Amino acid sequence: MIRDNKILMTEINRIAETAGYLWEKGWAERNGGNISVNLTDCFTPQEIKMQPVESNLPLAIRAEHLKGHIFYVTGTGKRMRYVAREPWSNGALIRISPTGDSYDILAENPIRPTSELPSHLLMHDYLLAEGRQIRVVLHTHPTDIIGLTHCKPLLDSARLTRLLWSMIPECRIIVPRGLGIVGYEIPGTIELARATIEQLKHHDIIVWEKHGILAVGEDIIECFDAIDTLSKSAQIYFSARAAGFEPEGMTDEQLEGLVEPFCLPR
Ligand code: 13P
Ligand code: ZN
Repeated sequence: MIRDNKILMTEINRIAETAGYLWEKGWAERNGGNISVNLTDCFTPQEIKMQPVESNLPLAIRAEHLKGHIFYVTGTGKRMRYVAREPWSNGALIRISPTGDSYDILAENPIRPTSELPSHLLMHDYLLAEGRQIRVVLHTHPTDIIGLTHCKPLLDSARLTRLLWSMIPECRIIVPRGLGIVGYEIPGTIELARATIEQLKHHDIIVWEKHGILAVGEDIIECFDAIDTLSKSAQIYFSARAAGFEPEGMTDEQLEGLVEPFCLPR
């Protein structure tokens, strides 16, 4: 019984906890957002070979470095508020085939993975190939950050990063590699997936124009925290604007002053 695996259940509980936060934050309207977590290390060699509930489902991409890897993925059309309560009925464990171009559904129900699976898997594939210890891809729809992407001049990675960093010191510290931006693409497409992995070369957080945000990391709570911190910065910016003034923002010197004490990359 898969639920006897305590390490796996701890991971699933953290996913459910995070799904609840996404809903509470108001970032997860209807089925908005999706999550994938590489859980391969949670399984014994015996469990890795477990019988699927459905097999040989085609992938739109080839995941060269993910052959045999096992992921929890939220289901397409599933609501985060229900993932929080019942992660097994609103998501599935999938195992990538030995050829990397199809997958099996292992447990517990034959729930179809998120429509953003191409982006999620291409991101995991790219990061694994780079040797990075990244297990989580978290996609959500934060109202304030999406709002900023409706402002053309802010659709520039350096400019948007500088704006959000300068609202509060924690933002510079918690999101040290800044934000990448992907121009508008149709959700769930390969084009969106390919444009997204380009941004991973320099960033761990990527904004999709007029759509949402993605965070990658080792730990799902840390991914949530990074987005939450960016959202806080966006709220400070909007609240100043709503009060009728342009916020001053931290100066270059103030931002630079954080680099050494917090060992930040430049
Ligand atoms: P899914 O329900 O297929 O996960 O889609 C939600 C979403 O946010 C698409 O970008
Ligand atoms: Zn989305």
